[in-house]
Amino acid sequence: MRAPFFSNMEGRTRRSASTKSYVNMSETNNRSPFLEQPRFVDRLEDCFFYHAMELPGFGLIPAHWDLRGRFADYIGGVEVAGKSVLDIGTATGFLSFEAEKRGATRVLSFDMREARQQTFLPFKDKLYYRDPERWAKQYGAEIEQWRNAYWLCHRVLKSKAEVYYGNIYELPAELGQFDITIVGSVLEHLPDQITALASIARLTKETIVLISPLLQTDERIARFEALASNPDADFTWWTYSLGVYREVFGMLGFNIAKVSHAKYYYMYGDRFEVRSTIVAVRE
Ligand SMILES: C[S@@+](CC[C@H](N)C(=O)[O-])C[C@H]1O[C@@H](n2cnc3c(N)ncnc32)[C@H](O)[C@@H]1O
Repeated sequence: MRAPFFSNMEGRTRRSASTKSYVNMSETNNRSPFLEQPRFVDRLEDCFFYHAMELPGFGLIPAHWDLRGRFADYIGGVEVAGKSVLDIGTATGFLSFEAEKRGATRVLSFDMREARQQTFLPFKDKLYYRDPERWAKQYGAEIEQWRNAYWLCHRVLKSKAEVYYGNIYELPAELGQFDITIVGSVLEHLPDQITALASIARLTKETIVLISPLLQTDERIARFEALASNPDADFTWWTYSLGVYREVFGMLGFNIAKVSHAKYYYMYGDRFEVRSTIVAVRE
């Protein structure tokens, strides 16, 4: 179920990223200073695409995951028209832009503020563990490329989505309340899913849509996904069971209304992988 979407900084060639030189903060908006100002990005080589995107003037841009035509399945058939939507871990922003296209009234795309908020598993020979400062510098440059891809899409799709970069464990109340929050393929990459879900629930009025690998049992268990012998797979911590999510959502005042499973296309591996979608609705 794992997807190698996070690069291993060691052993992987990347384009050099001098994002500052080409990123103009020329588009501005009148929104809260709390939110990010749009960046002007127009070169694909300055971007890292996590989601495959079909963009005016650029055509199809291949990427790790191709969710085109699969939005409804991915978010468990939840209707976003007329709703405000918070997109947690937006990456290239496919889910935000799709929600907007389908009539969401307000969309806020959230992602981490800084490299150190990304938690990998601690393998003794990896830079992340050996030299956290150097790692953070390198990974920070990579994150800029993820962001550039988002902002390029945002511009050419004429998106009005707002953007906030911050701490998933302490999402600020100032962002407001959202009818629907989409938490797509994020929680399995955190050491503490439950504190993150609590932070997300505080901002959610009606529905949380959680997409993740899932243990399909009501037993309250989690599987630790990492192996000491496999340092390449350093980005997935735990797969939780439905039983765990049921209890955690219950604590937070939500009921699980629907659970669905589907296969999604991992483009770079030319294979399909199963993901589960839990729709939890406020009591
Ligand atoms: C696997 S991608 C999922 C993208 C999209 N949500 C989807 O479902 O297709 C994971 C996203 O979560 C974000 N992420 C990972 N750890 C995070 C953290 N600690 N705080 C905030 N965002 C995080 C990554 O930056 C990335 O954008």
